[in-house]
Amino acid sequence: VSGPGTATGQEGAEPALSAENLQRVCDFLYRRTGMSYGEAKRYYIERRVAERMQRTGSGSIAAYMALLRGSDGEAEHLVNSFTVNETYFYREEHQLRCLSRVLLPEVVRRRGPGDLVRIWSLPCSTGEEPYSIALWLLENWALVDAYHIEIVGSDIDTRVLEAAMAGEYGVRALGRLPAELTRHYFEPVEGDRRRIIQDLRESVRFTQANLVDAASMAAQGRFDIVFCRNVLIYFDDASRLAASVNLYDALNPGGFLCLGHSESMSRISDRFTVRRFEDAVVYQRPEAA
Ligand SMILES: C[S@@+](CC[C@H](N)C(=O)[O-])C[C@H]1O[C@@H](n2cnc3c(N)ncnc32)[C@H](O)[C@@H]1O
Repeated sequence: VSGPGTATGQEGAEPALSAENLQRVCDFLYRRTGMSYGEAKRYYIERRVAERMQRTGSGSIAAYMALLRGSDGEAEHLVNSFTVNETYFYREEHQLRCLSRVLLPEVVRRRGPGDLVRIWSLPCSTGEEPYSIALWLLENWALVDAYHIEIVGSDIDTRVLEAAMAGEYGVRALGRLPAELTRHYFEPVEGDRRRIIQDLRESVRFTQANLVDAASMAAQGRFDIVFCRNVLIYFDDASRLAASVNLYDALNPGGFLCLGHSESMSRISDRFTVRRFEDAVVYQRPEAA
């Protein structure tokens, strides 16, 4: 699939995927994930399709598309190869501060000691975000032991979920964590790599979920706080709208939604109340809804 013209733009070279086949791949991914790809990402798309064709021994794009349509396993591999999984510990720390200073105190005002409080990191990629939440609460929320805090990490990508469960990280993922926290909560494995300690590994439950699929979202139940950061940027308006409906339904009345710094609900949905706190802007499902 990787024709010379695609990478270099050489004149006269045939593109590896015809416009029609490229569109077919994009439509397939869009229906499965909500992620919106097109001609502008031709090189990215061709590289991934070429790799999957080679791995599956498909002799032509037609053969590969037939395989893709008939095999959930291959669809999963293709989706996994297209996701962008960039993440790291203590990303957008100001939201974690908001979580312990304002959001959780508001949530537990109507709970008693020992009651369940559910926090969802979706998408969680390789686990840095939900583990950061667990770690942050241990370090910064005095009431952490007074409630039953359940943290769930979900993603559409099954490969990152496996990595999240393994809990092993390199220097880049750990770069923003204060050194004493790295020493305290991670044990050395090989070279520079470190593994998050068992207590923290066990404090997060990982499951697969698809933001644009109502049934897979509903299967996780309702949450008090949802972190949905840095994924809506890969969606078009229709997928963002579908995600906003599913996220709203995933929240308990009065529950909070935190988005990534370049993302906003205001243009997508008017069902959330915008709460402007000192540390972050957060979206709230109204109490009476
Ligand atoms: C850039 S990462 C964000 C990770 C983390 N929330 C953060 O901000 O550091 C984007 C993640 O979105 C996931 N993703 C893409 N489409 C999704 C969907 N429809 N449902 C659930 N996760 C999805 C990808 O697999 C990827 O791991």
